[in-house]
Amino acid sequence: MKLPRNFFKPLAIGAPAPCRELPVRLERMIHFVPPHIEKVRAKVPELIGRVDVLLGNLEDAIPADEKEEARRGFIEMARANDFSTTSLWVRVNALNSPWMLDDVLQIVEAVGYKLDVMMLPKVEGPWDIHYLDQLLAQLEARYGLRKPILIHAILETPEGVNNIEAIAAASPRMHGFSLGPADLAASRAMKTTRVGGGHPDYRVLADPVAEGEARPAYQQDLWHYTIARMVDACAATGLKAFYGPFGDFSDPAACEAQFRNAFLLGCAGAWTLHPTQIEIAKKVFSPDPAEVKMAHKIIQAMPDGSGAAMVDGKMQDDATWKQAKVLVDLARLVSAKDPELAARYGL
Ligand code: GLV
Ligand code: MG
Repeated sequence: MKLPRNFFKPLAIGAPAPCRELPVRLERMIHFVPPHIEKVRAKVPELIGRVDVLLGNLEDAIPADEKEEARRGFIEMARANDFSTTSLWVRVNALNSPWMLDDVLQIVEAVGYKLDVMMLPKVEGPWDIHYLDQLLAQLEARYGLRKPILIHAILETPEGVNNIEAIAAASPRMHGFSLGPADLAASRAMKTTRVGGGHPDYRVLADPVAEGEARPAYQQDLWHYTIARMVDACAATGLKAFYGPFGDFSDPAACEAQFRNAFLLGCAGAWTLHPTQIEIAKKVFSPDPAEVKMAHKIIQAMPDGSGAAMVDGKMQDDATWKQAKVLVDLARLVSAKDPELAARYGL
């Protein structure tokens, strides 16, 4: 067992001390860009102002013969831009791939000082985190980085789901998890060809009705169980949970509904793979102004957060005060970035 006092010590002499708490950042969408495409890199300056997190994707969806060009393109785009308050992430290739080691070595050397988070795919257990944790510490020490690069794990294998609590607690470098519904569906032998979202055949049939009447059937959420596990593992360890990709760009309503379920269950954001999904994520993962007004009223009715009060005919107590605080804290974070929503929240 690792001693608690050693948990927060740097893993290499000269590496920065690990964070005790996650930096407070707005991360409503993790916007994916394929950095091997020059036309896409040219749009990065405009994208930076529109998204909370910009991620250069080096893993799946990048053709094998473009992997090195994607890595080079990511380094170029990281160097060429000032990201201001927008976070810069990279999704490296999987640990068993021929590219992962050079992804980490070259990116940290070239632009580690600009990188906030490294997303690691196909994480199966805490041993995967320990390996990257140690490697990053050695590289941070070598290149004199002052702030630790955080690790974000994709939850996309059954073994990863089984080990999620241990992965979450593996290192103070952990930032959070994203649900990876495509790989998870494949590795679980789920019978779908979709990237995230529901399936029309995954339904509950209502009890029999009178003869001649149609028997209702209700579509269920294929991802509810996994998202709920992910949210609990994250909340218990002070990390953040995210919905991953929604692949049907032609169905914004379903994308919004799936993102909203994730938001209501406790997720902080979702991936956006297409520019049209940025506005959807912004809308869903910024709290509703009416809810924020109600939450603010609750906090004002119970300034020290204790006791009980009635607000608009509804009972409030210490627990609802804490729920209200989650919404108001998030609204303040959104307000700092978004003047239009700041005006609507009126905090
Ligand atoms: C994402 O990587 C997924 O597999 O869904
Ligand atoms: Mg995947």
